[in-house]
Amino acid sequence: MKQLGVTVWFTGLSGAGKTTISRAVEKELRDRGYGIEILDGDIVRENLTKGLGFSKEDRDENIRRIGFVAHLLTRNGVIVLVSAISPYREMRQEVKQRIGDFIEVYVNAPLAVCEKRDVKGLYKKARAGQIQHFTGIDDPYEVPANPDVECHTDIESVEESVAKVLHKLESAGYIN
Ligand code: PPS
Ligand code: ADP
Ligand code: MG
Repeated sequence: MKQLGVTVWFTGLSGAGKTTISRAVEKELRDRGYGIEILDGDIVRENLTKGLGFSKEDRDENIRRIGFVAHLLTRNGVIVLVSAISPYREMRQEVKQRIGDFIEVYVNAPLAVCEKRDVKGLYKKARAGQIQHFTGIDDPYEVPANPDVECHTDIESVEESVAKVLHKLESAGYIN
């Protein structure tokens, strides 16, 4: 039977767990034989959206381009995992409408937890004024109003968060 494509869109603050969860989901589904691709903000910004910054205009353009590629892949039967902060509700809504087969995952950890993790040392730099427009510090993050899945990564293990995403893909009929 032909594989149904879908985009799983992970949104959340820097350090919330988008990359970690999407990579773990990728591994699990690849092992099960599904066609899968990841579009991760950090990687995409080195090629597809190279040169874009973090103003609202540039973030919107970044999300639009990611959404465009995700749509092409999704309609060809690929399971696409997007991990991008995607802080603006309107843009998330726009890509969701374009793609159709779409699962929004809110990777939710309090700012204080993300800042304590400071995986890449960016919060420290933002607090020191060395980076401007840093999400959660001096740039907005609009919380999803009605996500399909919510992972509370401050209190869940990675495995629990991954299981939630897999369960949703299964109950929505995209995987067995
Ligand atoms: S967006 O808002 O969706 O266009 O952002 P995204 O493409 O996901 O890129 C986020 C990654 O860029 C790094 N970074 C910043 N994030 C937020 N704000 C500012 N100012 C910023 N500058 C650099 C950071 O590594 C983000 O990755 P994650 O994985 O979220 O930490
Ligand atoms: P993001 O891509 O959203 O910036 P990362 O995946 O780079 O976030 O970092 C998240 C950090 O939080 C990692 O160090 C990861 O091990 C940790 N973490 C703890 N619990 C979880 C969880 N349930 N899901 C995802 N990450 C978690
Ligand atoms: Mg990341």
